[in-house]
Amino acid sequence: MQSLSTLRIHELPPDERAVYATLKPEALPQHVAIIMDGNGRWAGRRSLKRFLGHQQGARSVQLVTETASRIGLPWLTLYAFSLENNLRRPRAEVNFLMRLLKSYLESNVQRMMDNNVRMRYIGRTHDLPPEVQDKMRWVEETTSRNTGTTLTLALNYGGRSELVDAFRALAAEVHQKHIPLDHITEQDIHRHIYTAHMPDPDLLIRTSGELRISNFLLWQIAYSEIFVTERLWPDFRGIHLLEAIAAFQQRERRYGGLGEACGEVEEDIDRIHIAAS
Ligand code: FPP
Repeated sequence: MQSLSTLRIHELPPDERAVYATLKPEALPQHVAIIMDGNGRWAGRRSLKRFLGHQQGARSVQLVTETASRIGLPWLTLYAFSLENNLRRPRAEVNFLMRLLKSYLESNVQRMMDNNVRMRYIGRTHDLPPEVQDKMRWVEETTSRNTGTTLTLALNYGGRSELVDAFRALAAEVHQKHIPLDHITEQDIHRHIYTAHMPDPDLLIRTSGELRISNFLLWQIAYSEIFVTERLWPDFRGIHLLEAIAAFQQRERRYGGLGEACGEVEEDIDRIHIAAS
């Protein structure tokens, strides 16, 4: 949990503070990941061009990040641009998303500093346009000493390609250090994934109602709680993050074990006869 000095609950707007008051501060998630979806539909429903949906979506990114930083959420990871977006969307839309990202980074760096937000990235970012990479590096360095929320943007990201990258790195290490294959553990894979330095997401939110993972954080979400909302990303605000956290706090996380409400386990279970079926 973050130290109380990084909490800025008093900066929440009154409606968000009211939802925050219903939360158990000791049971806040450490890491929330969000699949931001529905920008195109948001625009389509208003007979607007798709790019205006993305532009409004960028505003949601900043507002949700600010709420996260005020409640002291340590890790927020947003799926901003997938490898599949890069390969399958029209070039004009991809170019627009790159320009939007660059302009977002330029115009929001001061707000990130004001909110003590540290910016990071995951994905095959080396394949992004050089001028976008330059801006990304500049914001990462500028915000690197901030101690509040770490905002990680997944850019040119794919869950399967992340695993390919991790396995390649691990294979090189195994080869170099002559590690016997049966010594490889889950921790070894974890050390080589993009998010090695952070806890796995406790809560995965998806906007716009689709019931898909879309190749996001495949390794990391093994035990994440999933919250899907019909709300489209450009309409998603800090209050909706807090509502998702409230729903998360109602869940019982069992990690494959037995929950508190499972009842008595029979002591003579070994003697129960299993009928042939
Ligand atoms: C899905 O909308 C969203 C994306 C393609 C990526 C998310 C991008 C943003 C929120 C804007 C830029 C972000 C930053 C950080 C500046 P969609 O186009 O798939 O929506 P649809 O399914 O309704 O068509």
